[in-house]
Amino acid sequence: MSGAGVEAPAAKPAGAKKSAGKRGGNAVKPGGGERTIVAFCCHECAYAAADAAANARTSLPPTVRLVLMPCTGRVSPLHLLSALADGADGAMVAGCLEGQCHYREGNFQAIDRVAFVQRLLESVGVEPERVRMFTMSAGDPPRFVAAVREMDRVIGSLPPLERA
Ligand code: FES
Repeated sequence: MSGAGVEAPAAKPAGAKKSAGKRGGNAVKPGGGERTIVAFCCHECAYAAADAAANARTSLPPTVRLVLMPCTGRVSPLHLLSALADGADGAMVAGCLEGQCHYREGNFQAIDRVAFVQRLLESVGVEPERVRMFTMSAGDPPRFVAAVREMDRVIGSLPPLERA
C-alpha cells in the first residue's frame, strides 16, 4: 500500500510497456506524459478474466494498471479519488456480475460508491466519466477487454486531468 492509500499495481496487463503510443493511440497526453487508468479488479471475476485475456495474449491498452482487490466492495471512494489525485487520468472498478459477488453485496456497494464519486467529481467540475464501474464473469475475458478499451477510449478523449 502506498502512502496515499492506493495499492501498487499487482500486475500489468498483457503486453503493457512503458513506452506509450505504440499501441492504443490514447496513451500519450498532450503534455507529453503517459495517460494512466487504474483498474481495481476483484479477484474472483474481473482479475480472473484479465488473467485469461493475458494468457490468450490479448493486447490491452498500455494505459491500464491493474490493482488486485479481494472484492470490489473493498474499493472505497478514497481509493478512487487518491488514484486521480496521484496522477491517474481515470479509475475503473471491475467486479463480478450483479448478484454474483462472492461476498454477496460487494459489487452493489461498489456501484454505489462509484456513483457517489462521480457526483463528487461533477460537483467540482471534473468529468464524472473518469470513474466507471464494470461487471463481468470470470469466464468472459472479452468483456474485460472491452471494458478497459472503452475506458481507454473515453479517457483518451478527455483533456488531461488538471490538479491544483
Ligand atoms: Fe467480485 Fe465481490 S467478489 S465483486
